[in-house]
Amino acid sequence: MPTRNLCNKRIIVGISGGIAAYKAAELVRRLIEHRAEVRVVMTRAAQEFITPLTLQALSGNPVHTELLDTGAEAAMGHIELARWADAMLVAPATADCLARIAQGKGDDLLATLALALDAPLAAAPAMNQAMWRNAATQANVALLARRGVHLFGPAEGPQACGDVGPGRMLEARQLAERLSSLFDSGVLAGLRVCITAGPTREAIDPVRYISNHSSGKMGYALAEAAVEAGASTTLISGPVVLELPHRGKVEHVNSAMDMLHASLAAAAECDIFIATAAVADYRPRQVAGQKIKKSSTTMVLELERNPDILSAVAALEHGPYCVGFAAETDRVVEYARDKLQRKKLDLIFANDVSDPSIGFNSDENLVTLVSESETLPLDKAPKRRLARTLITEIGRRYPPRA
Ligand code: C5P
Repeated sequence: MPTRNLCNKRIIVGISGGIAAYKAAELVRRLIEHRAEVRVVMTRAAQEFITPLTLQALSGNPVHTELLDTGAEAAMGHIELARWADAMLVAPATADCLARIAQGKGDDLLATLALALDAPLAAAPAMNQAMWRNAATQANVALLARRGVHLFGPAEGPQACGDVGPGRMLEARQLAERLSSLFDSGVLAGLRVCITAGPTREAIDPVRYISNHSSGKMGYALAEAAVEAGASTTLISGPVVLELPHRGKVEHVNSAMDMLHASLAAAAECDIFIATAAVADYRPRQVAGQKIKKSSTTMVLELERNPDILSAVAALEHGPYCVGFAAETDRVVEYARDKLQRKKLDLIFANDVSDPSIGFNSDENLVTLVSESETLPLDKAPKRRLARTLITEIGRRYPPRA
């Protein structure tokens, strides 16, 4: 069912002022049913047809109506909202609204968001058939389509004004399906993908362990993006506090050794192996059977190296296509390429962790794709959106092996 793609997606529903605005309520309800996070933006005219209160109750979030409202901007400014979204759907999109978006106007919140958006934009036109057929509207629609705006509909049929013809807004169910398909890239259709994510915990005694701050967000986002791309996925996850992906298999592990065993088993049956886990480099040589008592002022722990999981998978005969991540603080690309060669990887994504706004434990990431022959910097983006880009890049390069 295509609408599964909407789970956890952040969707802006933009409502402009047409009679079909009442159908936007049903659309929001459906998106919520599919477990999308929805924020509604309404133009002034839209509020003549349906109240913000209705949409607030259905979406579970305050409705955004004003561009220049200091209170609302302080809560979530228009640029922040534009960056928050995984997609925006304007439904209904009136002739005037389409014209304003086509012209790149920023004269109200909805138009400004369309302008500032860094995610797919879709519009569901809804208007009188003569207005739809008008050359001006057709020119605007053609321009928007050329710029990559997804146009959902309109359908033909009887209209609220009594006319019959094209201009009816698609039904909420159809809009949800069309929106869902925007997230369907299909680049990994039929492939089996295994992803490691999160930190590992290395036991010292029954109550203590050594670990790190990895959140697992990148790996979880990649698992979701891989499913959307048509892959069957196995996520091997260290201990994290994230909602489990809606689809795909998840195996929970604790230590690096657990992760190694799970990875080798999964790697034998997968086409692509992506290692995002922050595996602890060392583990205590001895794990105490009982809780260690604090007797002296210092304590010495003897540590031994953990195996490199990704290298072990990459060394497998007829092993999968191997993708790694390299978090570096300097000479980022150089060190990443060195890792690519040392670990015998096909691809590595390098990021500069000296910048606290990206990478480890943050919501955003900026990476450079590094392969034997390429160095490709990718745009900074929220991890969930970046994950879709990475999956597309991986899909484009697979399979490289003879
Ligand atoms: O820690 P390092 O910079 O070597 O990590 C690079 C890549 O290797 C990452 O993709 C990481 O998930 C993987 N790795 C691993 N097992 C380890 C250490 C790192 O799979 N023990």
